[in-house]
Amino acid sequence: MELITDPAELQNSLDQMRADGKSIGLVPTMGFLHRGHLSLIKRAVAENDVVITTIFVNPLQFAANEDLSTYPRDIEKDSSLCLEAGTTKLFTPANEEMFCDTVLTSISVTVLSSVLEGITRPTHFSGVATVVSKLFNIVGPCRSYFGEKDWQQLQIIKKMVTDLSYRVEVIGCPIIRDDDGLALSSRNVYLSDDEREVAAIIPQALHYAHGKVKSGERQSQLLKDSIIEQLQKSSLVSIDYVEVVNGDSLEPVTTVDAQTRILVAVRVGSARLIDNINALVGINTA
Ligand code: PAF
Repeated sequence: MELITDPAELQNSLDQMRADGKSIGLVPTMGFLHRGHLSLIKRAVAENDVVITTIFVNPLQFAANEDLSTYPRDIEKDSSLCLEAGTTKLFTPANEEMFCDTVLTSISVTVLSSVLEGITRPTHFSGVATVVSKLFNIVGPCRSYFGEKDWQQLQIIKKMVTDLSYRVEVIGCPIIRDDDGLALSSRNVYLSDDEREVAAIIPQALHYAHGKVKSGERQSQLLKDSIIEQLQKSSLVSIDYVEVVNGDSLEPVTTVDAQTRILVAVRVGSARLIDNINALVGINTA
C-alpha cells in the first residue's frame, strides 16, 4: 500500500493507471475506521483494479460549535486496517495540501441540503459536497463508495454527480451494525457504557416501526408517532427528528411505498446519532 499526501502526485499516478486500463475505486473517509468503512473498502477492492482510501477530517463540514478538534483520530490503526482490507493507495493530505488559506469556492446542492440534518447543520452539506467534489477532481473517473448510514449525504452526492456531470459512479453500501443493531459510526466512541447500552433503542424503534409496516400500516404519521414513543422510553435520549420521506427527494410522504425512507437523529449524551431504514425492508442484517 502506497501512502500519498500530495494531491498532484495522486492525480498524476491515477491518470497513468487509467491510461494502463486500470479501473479505480475511491472510498472517501474521515478516518477512525470501523467495520462500516472496511465493508466499503472491501467492496471497492472486489469491483476495481486499484482502490484509493482517503482519510481527511474535513474542516469545511464542521460548524464552529461542532467537534472538529476532538473528532477521533488514529492514523496508525487506520493505515493497518486499510492495508488489511486491500487499499492500494492511502491518501492522507494535510489541511494545507487540500485547501489553501482561504477557500472561496463552495458546492451547494440546494433543497436536499436544507432539510433533515440541514436544519440543525445548515453549512454541513456544502462542506461535504465541496470536499467530495475536490476528491472526485483529484481522483478522476472512478467508482466511489459511500455508506447508507449517511443517507442524506449519499443523495446529495448522487445529485451533485448528476448535476455537474462528474465521471464518477456513486455506489451506496448497506449500513453495518453492531450485534444489538446500533449503526456503526466513528462518533459511537463518544458514548459512555450506559449511553452505548441505551443507544440500541434507535434501531429497536426503527425495527418496531417496520413491524407495523409489515402488519399493513402505511400512514407515515402513525409510524413517526410510534418511533417517537419508543425513543421517549429512555430519558437519556433526546430526539432531533424522526421523518418519513421519499428516499430520493427527501420530501415528506404521507403514505409509505417502496421508496420510503425513515430517518432519525437523536442525541444520547454528547453523541448525536443518526440512522435510517427503508420502511418496507426494515433493518438490514449486513
Ligand atoms: O462520510 C464521511 O465520512 C464524510 O462526510 C466524507 C464523505 C468523507 C466527506 O468528508
